[in-house]
Amino acid sequence: MNQSTTSQDLFNRSLKVAPGGVHSPVRAFKSVGGTPIFFKSASGAKLTSVEGKNYTDFCQSFGPLLLGHRDAEVSAVVRETIDLAWSFGACEPYSLELAEWITQKIPWVERVRFVSSGTEAVMSALRVARAATGRTKILKFDGCYHGHVDSLLVKAGSGLAGETASDSAGVSQAFANETLIASLDDEAGLERVFEKHKGEIAAVIIEPLPANYGLLLQRREFLQHVEKVAHAHGALLIFDEVISGFRVSMRGMAELLGMKPDLVTYGKVIGGGFPVGAYGGRQDLMDLVAPNGPVYQAGTLSANPVGMRAGLATLKKAERENVHEVLEGRAARFVATLNEGFKALGAPMEIARQGSIFWIHQATGGETIRRLEQIPKEHGTRFKAVFHACAEQGVYLAPSGYEVGFIGFAHTDDILSDAAQKILQAVKSTHG
Ligand SMILES: Cc1ncc(COP(=O)(O)O)c(C=O)c1O
Repeated sequence: MNQSTTSQDLFNRSLKVAPGGVHSPVRAFKSVGGTPIFFKSASGAKLTSVEGKNYTDFCQSFGPLLLGHRDAEVSAVVRETIDLAWSFGACEPYSLELAEWITQKIPWVERVRFVSSGTEAVMSALRVARAATGRTKILKFDGCYHGHVDSLLVKAGSGLAGETASDSAGVSQAFANETLIASLDDEAGLERVFEKHKGEIAAVIIEPLPANYGLLLQRREFLQHVEKVAHAHGALLIFDEVISGFRVSMRGMAELLGMKPDLVTYGKVIGGGFPVGAYGGRQDLMDLVAPNGPVYQAGTLSANPVGMRAGLATLKKAERENVHEVLEGRAARFVATLNEGFKALGAPMEIARQGSIFWIHQATGGETIRRLEQIPKEHGTRFKAVFHACAEQGVYLAPSGYEVGFIGFAHTDDILSDAAQKILQAVKSTHG
């Protein structure tokens, strides 16, 4: 790459070799328009583009970087591990250490199996649930994303609970038919789906903190009701904590809610920025997994030593430094500054937040957004302008109005207060 290379040059080349020029769709900037920024390096809370421009990063690789980019302690462990081995395809002590740490800290994870992505974790947990119950249908919620598992790329048709239609070409109707949809925040709707499909539902899967269609904060009573109804009908409860696990607290949303899912899926933070996913839960369920039981699941690079040790180093530092508590304080101050600033500017924007996860959205007058239909219509269009104005100011938000923002341990109060002023400046430039 020579000095004068631009993002535009690289994107033009990428378009010739990869679909849409990217290896994961949101990166193409389709929902905000314009040319994707190509980054050449990252450090702490900062990204540097190929043009040499610096940005305060609130995308943080969509969530894995709890400590920020290239945390020094994790970096040292990664370098040390690279000099030991890259992959064994055999037993080693590194995954054991991470598995012991997780099972000792999280009582509802009695057994854990490592995979290489959140998608794989979800796919495998569903297989266990089907094997355990002898049933085939899975109930998911409209607006929750669980990776690109065929049967979960499905949402409600015409908003009617219990009806299914695929969200992606290439997913057969037969797979889509195995997935039932319910609305978030709707106890009665959920019960109707269970009544209609008595004895057919293997599991309910939910992001206990839905964070893939904005941040749809759920009532604890609703989540407790989901558990109660699922169990009353002989179905399992799967918490998809790929985003929230180890992020909103060490034990994820389940800890904050005081709930114990039967199975749980992890990704993102668990690998400290390397490709790791995991599923785990009750021992009797996890004992169904090969080689103990009949549920086949395997992976060439599963429990990769670099990811295992990066993950454990991240979690140990997070615990030692009280990262979750510190981030709660910093994020609260950052969001308060922004909310006050929006008011002072007369800009119709508000922020939803859980711990270090936040979502800037079009104002609802203080009403908490819990379901898709509550998201103001103009949100997406408004976000486009804000996104580009923020980038201009040197603040990088995830390039879609429906993606959340992440604050990492590398975002100090000073960095956050500087970024808040830049975001407010950006909002001011787009407002009125
Ligand atoms: C809640 C949730 N589940 C599953 C996944 C899939 O994880 P991955 O992208 O690692 O396959 C994601 C990804 O964003 C997610 O947010």
